[in-house]
Formats: sequence, structure tokens, C-alpha cells
Amino acid sequence: MKLEEVREKYLKFFEKHGHVVIDSAPIVPEDDPTTLFTSSGMQPLLPYFLDKEHPKGKKIANSQKCFRAEDIEEVGDNRHTTYFEMLGNWSFGDYFKQEQIPWFFEFLTKEIGLDPEKLYVTVFEGDEKAGIPKDTESAQIWKGLLGGDERVSYYGADKNWWSRSGTPENMPAGEPGGTDTEVFYDFGKDIHTDDFGKECHPNCECGRFMEIGNSVFMEYVKQEDGSFTQLPTKNVDFGGGLERITAASNNDSDIFNIDTIALIIKRIEEVSGKKYNDNKKAFRVIADHVRGAEVIIKDGVTPSNTEQGYVLRRLIRRAVRFGDMLSIKLSDITDGNQEIIQEEEKFRKTLEKGLKEFEKISKGGSISGSDAFVLFTTYGFPLELTLELALEQNLNIDEAEFRDKMREHQALSRKGAQLKFKGGLADHSEASTKYHTATHLLLRALKDVLGEEVAQKGSNITQERMRFDFSWGEKLTDEQKQKVESIVNQKIKEGLNVTNEEKEGVITYSIGDYSIEPCGGPHIKNTSELGHFKIKKEEASSAGVRRIKAILE
Ligand code: ALA
Repeated sequence: MKLEEVREKYLKFFEKHGHVVIDSAPIVPEDDPTTLFTSSGMQPLLPYFLDKEHPKGKKIANSQKCFRAEDIEEVGDNRHTTYFEMLGNWSFGDYFKQEQIPWFFEFLTKEIGLDPEKLYVTVFEGDEKAGIPKDTESAQIWKGLLGGDERVSYYGADKNWWSRSGTPENMPAGEPGGTDTEVFYDFGKDIHTDDFGKECHPNCECGRFMEIGNSVFMEYVKQEDGSFTQLPTKNVDFGGGLERITAASNNDSDIFNIDTIALIIKRIEEVSGKKYNDNKKAFRVIADHVRGAEVIIKDGVTPSNTEQGYVLRRLIRRAVRFGDMLSIKLSDITDGNQEIIQEEEKFRKTLEKGLKEFEKISKGGSISGSDAFVLFTTYGFPLELTLELALEQNLNIDEAEFRDKMREHQALSRKGAQLKFKGGLADHSEASTKYHTATHLLLRALKDVLGEEVAQKGSNITQERMRFDFSWGEKLTDEQKQKVESIVNQKIKEGLNVTNEEKEGVITYSIGDYSIEPCGGPHIKNTSELGHFKIKKEEASSAGVRRIKAILE
């Protein structure tokens, strides 16, 4: 089957079962400062698992464009890609295990025509410490569908538990999660070799089994004391790999052979005059990275040294290096994508300079962590490239020192990103400046009403409104909102002066003696300039973070 056919069959199937099909959200999240890319279908829908009602109802489905930067190094095997589409269906307090599992089974066997004998499933074995029982209900359902339990296995929380932050132990308070049941497709015994261990099993790394779908039963939320309680509703979060299901439909374990990816593999063959079968890793890396880069660029990202731009830069540069192994240029395979072409040119120039620098350094006989760090920051040399060159010339590298330096560097850039986010002003117009001062009053008022533990998590200000994120685990009551509003308006009425002072390089702004906060400004001079403060909306922003949208009128 072709990718498009599988997508269409999936969406039709779940539409038939009462789901409303929605569009894919952008791959660069619009409103979520906690993450660079959308990496699962549920991510843009998080508030609907917590306490918000989805405007389209309780049963939703879509195919979400996803990007997983953490998988960049994994690319090269038969099944990992950074960019992929995740088929999703969700129940926000509607159906649960008894419907979800048979539906997915029916979709795979009837719609896609997979041989049920080739399906293996895993379920949760229970976690005493977290107080989560073994999922015997899912196992029973599977037993009925598969005609026995030979192909049903139990695994622990590292495999059959899903939350955005992994295992129960790793989850922060306020984060929702649940047990899951995964379906694997068996591509045949012959794929397994002893290198991967004596016994093959669904989660074996050999590639015989490919995970094609995961039904998460989102019913828990983690508490401050580490325990788990039930969410207000029992929910389903299903995610299936569209490319992988397509590969299974063709009984071909290499997802790079499905129609959409084969196109670019073929193009690389034409341009390089080399065969995919003889150079699988390089072909896969180039094909994946170019596809990923194109999708990210479409969402408005350009190569840079920070955040999404940095990931994009890394993708392109890595693809250039693998391109060199095949003696091809990305510009010959990207169909005129100017961002990719320009970044390739830039990288080739730095590469030349960097190689010269590398030669100079290597005369010393070894490469210190600082040398490798300078090659990275100044010449754009990834560590793996420095390692490869060093290996060729039999030189030692102090990798540990390099990694220390990188950690320092990353901590600094994170701080930079936080500062940038904290100010959150679109411009320094009078209207925006008023809103900025109002955020200080709002934070102080929230602390008065909810408690000192409330912390600012970000803000975003335009001339028309303010958005303010703060740490808090639940919906504010109407009374709390009214109290906050009336305190802010009271402080506006009091006509408090806004002053600032600098101590040891840190500027703090005070509003009368009501609020004091470290801040870079700018602010208005007196609160009487603000007008009337009104909360328009209060909603979940991400786990444990609430968002207020407010205006001054
Ligand atoms: N959210 C689940 C996943 O990403 C379905 O695997």
C-alpha cells in the first residue's frame, strides 16, 4: 500500500466509529515553550486530558506530523526516522480498553489486511512502587482477539507505561500518564542474530519485530508526594506510526522502501550512481535528514545556533557529511530548497576552515576537550566528525572534558532562552509596556490569592493583550479569578509609582511597596496609567502550568 492509502483508511475507519477528524497541528508548537517540536499526536491536545473540553467533542482522530530530534543518531537502521506521521485517535472520557483494542485490531487485520498471526502485543506487568496494578484487562481482550496468549507478553514501566516524561518515577507532579499496550509486527525469524541476544522477543533490537501502534490508557496524574491518583476521566491516547504500518502492509521491514521515502532514495541513486543496497546507512541518513529539514523549514524555521534552528542546522550538516561519503551534494536532491542549499554552502566553507584548524591542533599529538569544543563552537564541527578525523590519524581526544564544556555551554544558552522568554515583550510600545507592568501586579496578586509558591513560567505580550503562564496544578475557581482581578484593579487605583534599582548588576522593579521583581523593564511610571484589568481566559498550558489571558481596557 501507499502511505496515503493507509492514512485515508485509518481516518475513515475512526470517522465511521464516531470520531471527528482534525488537522495536524504545526510541527513547531505554537504555544508550548517547554518543547521544541511536536513529537507525538497527543502533545497539542494535552489540555483536553486535564480539564478542558475539546470543541469537537470527546472522540478525535488525526494524522500528526511529528519530529523527534532525540532520534537523530538512531537514524540508519530499518525503522527510525526523525520525521514521521503519527496516526492518532483519542477518547477524552468516552470509550476505553474494551473498544480501543478491538478497533485497532480490526483496523490492522481488516482494513490493512495484516495477518493476525504476525501480530505480537505487550501489556503492563504492574508497578508496586507506583501503586499501579498489572493490566490483566488488556491482556484478556488480546487473548480473545489473538485466539490465545502465546503472543501476549508483559513488560514493566520502561516499556508499557507512557507519559511525556517517561516512567512513573521520572514524571513531574501534575503530569498525566498511563499504562499502554503496544502492537508489534513480525517480519520473520531470520532477521534475528545472536548478536542481539539468544532469545528474540517483541522489544528485541534486532529489527524482526517493529512496533506499529501504541494504545495509552491515560487515567492517572502524578501528585506532589509521588503517588498517583485518577484523572477526572479515563482517556485513550493512541499513536501509530503511519510509515511503519505502511511498511507492514507491504511485509517489507525497511520503511525507507515505502513510496514517499523511496522517491528520495531513488533520487540519491540517480545523482550518486551508487546503489542503496550497498550504502544503506548513508542513504537513510541523507533521505531522513533532508525530508526532516524540508518539513521544519516549511514551518518557518531557518538554520541558526539556537533551539529549532540549531536542530535544523545539525540535520543539514549531518546530511552534508553523509553526502560526502557518496560524493553528492544536497543541492542535487532537495528540489531547490534555498535554506538547505545555503546552509550546505556555508557548512562547506566552515568545513574547509575547520579542517585547517584541525590540522594545526593535531600537530600537538592529541586533542584536548577545549580544542574539540572550539572546533564545535567556532567551526561547527560536531564531536563525531572530530572523533572520526582523530581516529584516522590515531590521535587521542579528551571526550569527557569536551562533554563538560558542552554542558556548561548548554546551561548558559538555556539561561539565555529563559531570560528572553521572561520579558516576553513583542515590542516596547506604550501599550506593550503597560501590559508588562500589569504582569508584575498579576504575579503578586496570584501569590496573594493562591500562595507564595506560585511562580511565573513565561509571558507573552502584544499591544492588544497579555498571556501569562504560572505554576499551578488546577483550574482557578471563579472566586479566585475575581479576587485576583480586583486586587490588580485596586493597585491600579492606588496610583503606585514604579521604580527600579540596580544592585550587583541585577535590576529590580518595585511597584509601590506591593511588588518587587528582578526584571529588565521597560515599565510605565505609575499604575494609574493602566486602566481596567480584566481576565479573559484561564486554562491549562502544560502539565502543572496554567495560562491567563488578560486585557487592559
Ligand atoms: N502518545 C503515545 C506515543 O507517543 C501514543 O507513543
